[in-house]
Amino acid sequence: MDVLGKILNIEKQLQDIMQRRSLSMPATALVLGSGLGAVADALQNATIIPYGDLAGFPVSTAPGHKGRFVFGTLGGIPLVVMQGRVHYYEGYPMSDVVLPLRVLARLGVKQCVLTNAVGGINEGMQVGDFMLITDHISTFVPSPLTGPNSEQLGLRFPDMTQVYDLQLQAAIRGGAADCHLDLKEGVYAQLTGPHFETPTEIRLLQSLGIDVVGMSTVVEAIALRHMNIRVAGISCITNLAAGISDTPLCGEEVNQVGAQVGGHMTELLTAALGRFEPANR
Ligand code: HPA
Repeated sequence: MDVLGKILNIEKQLQDIMQRRSLSMPATALVLGSGLGAVADALQNATIIPYGDLAGFPVSTAPGHKGRFVFGTLGGIPLVVMQGRVHYYEGYPMSDVVLPLRVLARLGVKQCVLTNAVGGINEGMQVGDFMLITDHISTFVPSPLTGPNSEQLGLRFPDMTQVYDLQLQAAIRGGAADCHLDLKEGVYAQLTGPHFETPTEIRLLQSLGIDVVGMSTVVEAIALRHMNIRVAGISCITNLAAGISDTPLCGEEVNQVGAQVGGHMTELLTAALGRFEPANR
């Protein structure tokens, strides 16, 4: 099956399940990064659809990723949450990595907040900080748009001048101020992983003006912009990047820190959602 065929197939399956459960697709999607799954547990009137219920859906194998959609409300705003995502390093082609978001967009999602765990490169970043993503560097990963383009999804050469929506950024900044949270801002770079970087690689990224590094998000943002969906991104600094901290890095630490700040992420998102334009909710 080609990429569009696969998207249409899973779209149909999800649409059928949603119909049977009398669910409608909210305007806003939220993707939860490593360890941040607790945010989904804060949803009111939650309905869960495990990814495994959709035949052919890429299921997450990464620890700290539950692998399900949660439909519900946060602060009264309807949301569809992806509690867990798949990564390129799990062995999926990039077209599969972004497939869940493409399906949500085709079923009516208009804007998406991507969250993730990152290593902090900029000296101003501390473990436990949140960073609003203002731009990204995709240079180190294959484009999710490689291969034949489907005009049904978007343009062959989509513009990436302003990937991260300015109105959504303003809402998230405002939400952080409401919560008295010192929200950092900066540039995110995606590397494929799954290994962490070497100190020399981190110095290279630092010299390029990159503030944080992770293994997701950029390709998702590209696929969403390809489909003309508004995008925002919030990173959680779960560790200082290799060589900036002198301790070896490990995946458990990433999930632990994510879990520790899950409550703050819920507060930030609730406050930010309340500031989204009513017409876009
Ligand atoms: N590097 C890459 N990805 C990450 C890191 C890191 O240090 N921390 C969390 N995700």
